[in-house]
Amino acid sequence: MTGLWILHWFFLLGFVFLIHGNADPVEDKQALLDFVNNHPHSRSLNWDSNTPVCDHWTGVTCSADKSHVIAVRLPGIGLSGPIPPNTLSRVSGLQILSLRSNVIIGHFPSDFSNLKNLSLLYLQFNNFSGPLPDFSAWNNLTIVNLANNHFNGSIPESISNLTQLSALNLANNSLSGEIPDIEVPKLQLLNLSNNNLSGIVPKSLQRFSRAVFGGNNDLSFTNFPAEVPPVAPPSKPNQKSGKLGETALLGIIIAAAVLGIVAFACLILVVCLRRKREDGLSGKLQKGEMSPEKVISRSQDVNNRLVFFEGCHYAFDLEDLLRASAEVLGKGTFGTAYKAILEDATIVVVKRLKDVNVGKKDFEQHMEIVGNIKHENVVELKAYYYSKDEKLMVYDYHTQGSFSAMLHGRRGEDRIPLDWDTRLRIAIGAARGIAHIHTENGGKLVHGNVKASNIFLNPQQYGCVSDIGLTTIMSSLAPPISRAAGYRAPEVTDTRKAAQPADVYSFGVVLLELLTGKSPIHTTAGDEIVHLVRWVHSVVREEWTAEVFDLELMRYPGIEEEMVEMLQIAMSCVVRMPDQRPKMLDVVKMIENVQRMDNENRPSSGNRSESTTPLGSTPPPVVGTPQLTSQE
Ligand SMILES: *[C@@H]1O[C@H](CO)[C@@H](O)[C@H](O)[C@H]1NC(C)=O
Ligand SMILES: *[C@@H]1O[C@H](CO)[C@@H](O)[C@H](O)[C@H]1NC(C)=O
Ligand SMILES: *[C@@H]1O[C@H](CO)[C@@H](O)[C@H](O)[C@H]1NC(C)=O
Ligand SMILES: *[C@@H]1O[C@H](CO)[C@@H](O)[C@H](O)[C@H]1NC(C)=O
Ligand SMILES: *[C@@H]1O[C@H](CO)[C@@H](O)[C@H](O)[C@H]1NC(C)=O
Ligand SMILES: *[C@@H]1O[C@H](CO)[C@@H](O)[C@H](O)[C@H]1NC(C)=O
Ligand SMILES: *[C@@H]1O[C@H](CO)[C@@H](O)[C@H](O)[C@H]1NC(C)=O
Ligand SMILES: *[C@@H]1O[C@H](CO)[C@@H](O)[C@H](O)[C@H]1NC(C)=O
Repeated sequence: MTGLWILHWFFLLGFVFLIHGNADPVEDKQALLDFVNNHPHSRSLNWDSNTPVCDHWTGVTCSADKSHVIAVRLPGIGLSGPIPPNTLSRVSGLQILSLRSNVIIGHFPSDFSNLKNLSLLYLQFNNFSGPLPDFSAWNNLTIVNLANNHFNGSIPESISNLTQLSALNLANNSLSGEIPDIEVPKLQLLNLSNNNLSGIVPKSLQRFSRAVFGGNNDLSFTNFPAEVPPVAPPSKPNQKSGKLGETALLGIIIAAAVLGIVAFACLILVVCLRRKREDGLSGKLQKGEMSPEKVISRSQDVNNRLVFFEGCHYAFDLEDLLRASAEVLGKGTFGTAYKAILEDATIVVVKRLKDVNVGKKDFEQHMEIVGNIKHENVVELKAYYYSKDEKLMVYDYHTQGSFSAMLHGRRGEDRIPLDWDTRLRIAIGAARGIAHIHTENGGKLVHGNVKASNIFLNPQQYGCVSDIGLTTIMSSLAPPISRAAGYRAPEVTDTRKAAQPADVYSFGVVLLELLTGKSPIHTTAGDEIVHLVRWVHSVVREEWTAEVFDLELMRYPGIEEEMVEMLQIAMSCVVRMPDQRPKMLDVVKMIENVQRMDNENRPSSGNRSESTTPLGSTPPPVVGTPQLTSQE
């Protein structure tokens, strides 16, 4: 009997643990339920009390340990009426709140002052009225967007206590009175236009463009003398004699030191290269499925030679190549790419194809077509090699790596951001390259594998595309599993038979990637798989546009229009019906127009972006809610 009891207790304990292991932030959950059940909204939400809040609820993001809800994003779900008090304000760990583009009325909820950790607040495009809140309740607010409401009264002084504030948008309200001195060095984006503000624009804000103060009652700017950059004193050649001795001596010492360091570096380099050689390309290839004998016998086979294309200045043969030191650059869709450093220091990329599905003749024919494409935006195929068990392609090496690496590499670390101009040049170059490919072979050639990791920078720093037309000679790729899936047009079932509109689709995905900084398929904190195209569609449909853009781009002023323009181009490329997509040549023209806009707008100094900024200190961007639209 006692035994049974003990067993019973064990079960009970186990059960309790089970519940705990699966725990939800219970209090936050209840707060959210109270909110949504008391706030009418026209679109249904899947906030079911029986499902875990962290994994299933639309628009909700939890902390990594799922102990708190940290973000609630419900743009455009038709919330109407005032925010019920004592509901959202109980989600104490909330950092991001977006209720934009609803029809919420009433005053700014006074209990939001309990949300001490609030950092990003988007309430624009609602029908809030009354005074702005006392901002001293928060110290971590970074982005505040209350634009397009009916707030009235004056801008509270307490706003200057928000030391983290980097974006403030109060445009299109009914604010009056004078603008307080907002001396917040981090403030980068500001818009106070279309209110009823008056008085003198404080000195601390005169660094912003006048457009951000437009449409107000009676604002004046005191006139500060334009800052004159300090002029470098003219060099005086006849002063040389005096201190030259000392300077020269110093120079010599430094030069000697530098020489020493360089010599040492060279020594290390040589040692490293030596070491690398030992594990050369042939070694690398052998580590695959090849036996050493095969490699050697193959290299001696006169029929199997490295075939160079006309105009190629390389002077090496297969043996040189196999002796080269090599490192794996990456495993791609069609095989592995190696960086090979030849004995004469030439660096090339050797691509080893797996699953080639055609015979020698077809392969050679195809290589001829590809190898003869000479275009500044197409990575030139320098040479190829075909034998029964080995197919290699040789390309130039690009030091900067692929666009994918440039865009996604070392995110979160202190990387140099990839600026808008660079991204524009990459997009234009790649588009031109693909458009050119589409004119080749009687207008029948298809790239077949357009993706960010197949785009590189040419010497003019424009994009150029690689890996052309391989799909036609390879086995068909299994559907969704491969990483290429995020780029694949919906109509493509057999990758060997993809047509040009499929390239346009893939290129559209590359553009979206360029704009959002997100991979075509990625997972959210909640392990939810997000397809970039679907996600962007959902966000854009909710008039949430500014939130799709890469935070890294937000530090560049005055590019929002261009980004929106580019977004539209991208969206036109990824429409579902292949025949509704633009031709690649049209895409080129459209992107060139954006660049023209860019060149014309460049002198602007204002900050046009309305809602997001780059900030080292903002919480990681929380990926939106793709389910939001799948309901439609
Ligand atoms: C607010 O943030 C701090 C620091 O990140 C954290 O320690 C605290 O627990 C958070 N507060 C709540 C209520 O989550
Ligand atoms: C404010 O935010 C920063 C980073 O976003 C965080 O480290 C800090 O703990 C937050 N402070 C509070 C009081 O929430
Ligand atoms: C928004 O508020 C204004 C007055 O403040 C009112 O005239 C208008 O009808 C409201 N709009 C909606 C959609 O509630
Ligand atoms: C703000 O608007 C309300 C009516 O919506 C009005 O009663 C109040 O006086 C206004 N406040 C200011 C400062 O204009
Ligand atoms: C700003 O904060 C300080 C102390 O934190 C406080 O004394 C001051 O009154 C605040 N200023 C405003 C305008 O709220
Ligand atoms: C203000 O409203 C106008 C028209 O209603 C709109 O064109 C403009 O974009 C709005 N400004 C901001 C900053 O949202
Ligand atoms: C703007 O403010 C002035 C006073 O500064 C006031 O006379 C006027 O009625 C206000 N206009 C609106 C539209 O609120
Ligand atoms: C501020 O908003 C107005 C429209 O309300 C817009 O015309 C202006 O360009 C915006 N300024 C900036 C710098 O974003």
